[in-house]
Amino acid sequence: MTDATQNADGGLAFFEDLHPPEGDFKADVLAGLSKPQKTLDAKYFYDAAGSEIFDAITEAPEYYLTRTELALLDEIAPKLRARAGVGAVVLEPGAGSSVKVRKLIDALEAPAAYVGMDISGEHVKSACAAIAADYPGLTVGAVCHDFTQEIDLSALPLPSGKRVVFFPGSTIGNFELSGAQALLEVLRDYLRPGDGLLIGVDLRKDGATLEAAYDDAGGVTAEFNYNLVRRINTELGGTIDPEALLYRAHWNPYRSRVEMYLQAKRDMDFTVADQDFVLREHETIHTENSHKFTISTFQDLALRAGLKAVDVWTDATEAFSIHWLEVLGEP
Ligand code: AVJ
Repeated sequence: MTDATQNADGGLAFFEDLHPPEGDFKADVLAGLSKPQKTLDAKYFYDAAGSEIFDAITEAPEYYLTRTELALLDEIAPKLRARAGVGAVVLEPGAGSSVKVRKLIDALEAPAAYVGMDISGEHVKSACAAIAADYPGLTVGAVCHDFTQEIDLSALPLPSGKRVVFFPGSTIGNFELSGAQALLEVLRDYLRPGDGLLIGVDLRKDGATLEAAYDDAGGVTAEFNYNLVRRINTELGGTIDPEALLYRAHWNPYRSRVEMYLQAKRDMDFTVADQDFVLREHETIHTENSHKFTISTFQDLALRAGLKAVDVWTDATEAFSIHWLEVLGEP
């Protein structure tokens, strides 16, 4: 249901709840810990405490991604303005750091609308209300939606301008390649011919730089991982001793990804939701992957998802890339 009541939601033109399926934290954790290679799903990092720790990661000196992407957005503002034209409609699946989308909105010529989407209705409402307050001429809508799921945009009251779908942060790197392709296919469905997908993608580089970015000396990324363990202990009655786990980030050049693990310092017995688990000394729990691309490995992936590379920009050190993709037309 569209709630179009003026100002009912802090200046939002609409709030649409698409009722994303709730992830089952307990079932997913138990299933992951029952595998030969124990795993946890990275999407569970982001409870309130985890989101705050993630913000701190983006400020760690070794974590070059956020600051590089922000500087690159400033640098290419005129290009984005030219690509988007007048009266663009900006859509942001997984509306996150509004710092980035503000740079995009500021770059554009008389953008018509901004629509933020997030799996947390409360989060997306407040993030979008803040944008509405700061951009009085802009139509701002919020949608409660899981960006990995398909969406029927005809259900939303969107102005008719060119759509710019914004997916920054190299979030795409969190997915296995098959999942990344599936996600790009979902994002492609937002686009009509001539609309653009603006997506930030971290680039492959030397292993030392990558391992430092994902295991900062200040221990913030390690803390991000321990927070997930604490969340399991609190919410699922877990008895995992975080102190007995070592945090490790490993660059895997064969799979072109940084793999993150919690490794047992000693044999550990613990329970989660009344189920018993054993972790042997040196055994690991795989907590996250962050895939790294070259310009062409990413463009190839996009092509497989039906998206053609129209533009790509990188910073001077070629650490990070931002791509403008469009739907692949009929041959
Ligand atoms: C939010 C998925 C882009 O992979 O760089 C950062 C997550 N994890 N440090 C990334 C993350 C540990 C981040 N993404």
